[in-house]
Amino acid sequence: MKGIILAGGSGTRLHPLTSVRSKQLLPIFDKPLIYHPLTTLISLGLNDILIISNPNQINDFKFLLGDGLNFGINLSYEIQERPNGIAEALIIGESFLGNDKCALILGDNIFISDKLNSSQITDFKSGAKIFTIAVNDPERYGVVKIIENKVMDIVEKPNEFISNSAVTGLYFYDSEVSSICKTLSPSERNELEITDLNKVYLKNESLEVFQLEDNDVWMDAGTFGSLLDAGNYISALQKRAGRLYGSPELAAYNQGFLTKKHIKDLIKNSPKNSYYCLLEKIII
Ligand code: G1P
Repeated sequence: MKGIILAGGSGTRLHPLTSVRSKQLLPIFDKPLIYHPLTTLISLGLNDILIISNPNQINDFKFLLGDGLNFGINLSYEIQERPNGIAEALIIGESFLGNDKCALILGDNIFISDKLNSSQITDFKSGAKIFTIAVNDPERYGVVKIIENKVMDIVEKPNEFISNSAVTGLYFYDSEVSSICKTLSPSERNELEITDLNKVYLKNESLEVFQLEDNDVWMDAGTFGSLLDAGNYISALQKRAGRLYGSPELAAYNQGFLTKKHIKDLIKNSPKNSYYCLLEKIII
């Protein structure tokens, strides 16, 4: 299974913060936002990951993350020319994916959950799998309507209340996904909608919904408030528990993609007082 991180969009809701900097590179306390989805994919056990971004921002990601060697993984890059929708990422990623299955994650999504580990990948056989969680403001998201444990519908940003079960920005698909995306038509906002893709799998009775629970955390740092909240939350958690959240290096170490020697070298070559100090405390 391969991973795709979509780090596109123009981040208009965060202007002027995003006028010259991609949203996914903004700081969440001590790390760039994209470290979080990258950590999630690595924690799922994936080590071949494609990053998709805008023509004018792709080089910033390459500069920050390189070929993935520092994380013990393989990173590739592709451009999304225009913000044509999340589902377009799976067409852009077609040749990268080949015949493999894929986990797509949005570059501004932060997950803190021990349920997102490699067992999710082992359990995923075919079709599609989405991850939902209860939220206070379902009208901002794709929302699932479930009756007697069966998903009846998925609605993108519903005007009327359907449920509080939001579709998070992590999706698993089988190797049919790129072909299916090519059959989708653009929505009213002229995007290939991820919800329309999920509805195809739902119609084919091959959509699985995994419900995250109250003790799982999901944040999207798409507004000034949520960006600040996410940073404060990560800061408080790390200070309180002496743990590290959103560290691709730690996730890679736990997966066996990096050895203790790799980590030691990384720390040696990093400035003092960077977040690597905490990494050193935890690993070495
Ligand atoms: C997108 C999806 C939506 C999903 C959300 C998760 O919304 O369209 O279904 O719930 O991501 O972050 P957007 O970021 O385009 O508003």
